[in-house]
Amino acid sequence: MKTAIISSSLNPDSKGFIMCKAVEAELLARGADVLFVDARDYKLGPVFQKNKDNEKLSEQLKDMDNFVFGMAVYDYSVNDNLKMILDTCIDPKLENTLFGVVCAAGGDKSYLSTMHMTQICMNEWRMMQLPRVIYGTGKDFDEKGIHSEDLKDRIVKFADEFYDVGSKLLK
Ligand SMILES: Cc1cc2nc3c(=O)[nH]c(=O)nc-3n(C[C@H](O)[C@H](O)[C@H](O)COP(=O)(O)O)c2cc1C
Repeated sequence: MKTAIISSSLNPDSKGFIMCKAVEAELLARGADVLFVDARDYKLGPVFQKNKDNEKLSEQLKDMDNFVFGMAVYDYSVNDNLKMILDTCIDPKLENTLFGVVCAAGGDKSYLSTMHMTQICMNEWRMMQLPRVIYGTGKDFDEKGIHSEDLKDRIVKFADEFYDVGSKLLK
């Protein structure tokens, strides 16, 4: 199972990145073949100003079986850079693939913002979403990383379910 984990935040202190890395460790332990994308390593252009990095990322993603999108909540919606990745780097051939969402937010009240990912990916590429979402906020972290046992537990459950559903969809 080829899984791309895309940490889309450009924040140098991204919490989404930390959660995506935790998901990567869990999926690798289950035998997934993971491509980890840290969006901070790319300088993507918007739709009408695409550049070599857009091409490079599209090429890397085009043969993936499924996706874990690391999202940051911006204004109760999808962060700008993730929207740019979706708009410029997802090949139409990726229709019907599975995706999961790992979401970092400032507060608890924005959890429904991930529904915008559901709308975008289902309507545009008929992608299927893993119903479980990982949602973390500042209070789940300390200077060493994730300190919330509840968040750690939800990451393990997410990885179990993502690997299970992802593997079944390949059969
Ligand atoms: C432009 C902007 C808008 C934001 N809007 C929201 C919001 O609507 N709700 C919320 O809970 N947090 C909001 N935040 C806080 C981020 O979601 C939070 O900092 C999160 O950790 C970002 O993910 P990251 O750490 O992976 O970059 C916003 C942050 C920025 C920069």
